[in-house]
Amino acid sequence: MNKHILVLNGPNLNMLGIREPGVYGEVSLPQIEKHLSELASSQNVELTCIQSNHEGVLIDTIHAAYGKMDGILINPGAFTHYSYALRDAISSVKLPTVEVHLSNIHQRESFRHVSVIAPVADGQIAGFGAHSYELGFTALMNILKKAR
Ligand code: DQA
Repeated sequence: MNKHILVLNGPNLNMLGIREPGVYGEVSLPQIEKHLSELASSQNVELTCIQSNHEGVLIDTIHAAYGKMDGILINPGAFTHYSYALRDAISSVKLPTVEVHLSNIHQRESFRHVSVIAPVADGQIAGFGAHSYELGFTALMNILKKAR
């Protein structure tokens, strides 16, 4: 395995498939993670997938990635919109980071239009349902290839 990517999912994303399927779709998080893992292993990339509803666990996981992982694919859930602590954790480890959202947050309630994570991420992908993760993974791999 030549690269190791951390796939982080924040609060309520464990409820995908059950939660507001009209907004987030009917695919569960384990299904998304399985699909991503298959895609990753076809490219000789190792994935570690973690979901937590707790801000501190997400922060500890990002810190633990320092010096061990090569990049972060993150759907921060509602923490996207207000967690300065999560934003600071991402900028602390300085790992290539792609932010993903299933829904198009810019089309939704005004509180979702702001991402405090976006300024410390390399880019953001939003609005393509479960496919956002695959697009985000591809974007992250392109960043890592360029960095070589
Ligand atoms: C989300 C969008 C957020 O606004 C929301 O709080 C989520 C999911 C998305 O993937 O579309 O939990 O990050």
